[in-house]
Amino acid sequence: MQEVKFNYEGKNFIVVGASSGMGKQIALELSQAGANVLCLARRVEVMEQMKSEQGAGKIIPAFVDVTAATSKDWDAVIKSFVGEYGKINGGVYTAGIGGVSAFRNWNPEYANSVMDTSYWGMLRFMQSATKKRFADDGSSFVVFASIAARVSYQGQLFYASAKSAVQTAVRIIAKEISPNKHRFNSVSPGWVMNTEMSNQHANDFGIPQDMQNAFLLGEGTADKVSGMVLFLLSDRADWITGTDIVVDGGQLLGGI
Ligand SMILES: NC(=O)c1ccc[n+]([C@@H]2O[C@H](COP(=O)([O-])OP(=O)(O)OC[C@H]3O[C@@H](n4cnc5c(N)ncnc54)[C@H](OP(=O)(O)O)[C@@H]3O)[C@@H](O)[C@H]2O)c1
Repeated sequence: MQEVKFNYEGKNFIVVGASSGMGKQIALELSQAGANVLCLARRVEVMEQMKSEQGAGKIIPAFVDVTAATSKDWDAVIKSFVGEYGKINGGVYTAGIGGVSAFRNWNPEYANSVMDTSYWGMLRFMQSATKKRFADDGSSFVVFASIAARVSYQGQLFYASAKSAVQTAVRIIAKEISPNKHRFNSVSPGWVMNTEMSNQHANDFGIPQDMQNAFLLGEGTADKVSGMVLFLLSDRADWITGTDIVVDGGQLLGGI
């Protein structure tokens, strides 16, 4: 049972990376709470299927490849949603890719794609989504960073650097968009099980034993993180901006 219920009836949100994992969870919860949700990712057919999930209201899927979308492309997809439903009240950017590459023998193609997906795509999204013609004053935006940006996991140089860049961007952009009372925060999850990214990582590299012991509050799942995001999007969080919030079941405390 969830004791805290959100009411987003008549509100409009964008979720980037809505076809899987935490983005999908957030998109579904927003739509179950009454919002119209523009769901963006490459796999439109997967997001189409989300319409049939229990309680899902208005899920509006559309294609975006965040590594290729120009500012014009972002404007076009947001304009079409705003034209039909009205200005947005906020957005969530979860698109990201995992992977491992050592500092020595680093793979530039991989390093660039991590940065393109987590960072550059996010900047272009924020540039478009915060335009006055698209966003209502007082909109709230959330982007996904990671606790990897706060610690020193082996092989995570590029992933962690991209997430550190995201946290820095949040502090600077939050200031620049504050005249419109917009808010911008990042959420840094710990290891979240059963998303495509974490399943892939577990398949390719396994889960280190010390990580399995690290959760003071048990293993993480997408619905352990989505509540913080829905809160940050709500007016109960209207004095919170420019910060990074860790949601990790105590993982950063280093286990028992
Ligand atoms: N899982 C974890 O343990 C963990 C921990 C800390 C932080 N995070 C961060 O949390 C976020 C969500 O992670 P997750 O585990 O939920 O991942 P996930 O299940 O792999 O979902 C990633 C989403 O990003 C989208 N995406 C990836 N590349 C894209 C592209 N080029 N264009 C458009 N969309 C793209 C994917 O959609 P398509 O493939 O359909 O395009 C998918 O919807 C990521 O930023 C990740 O770095 C995850």
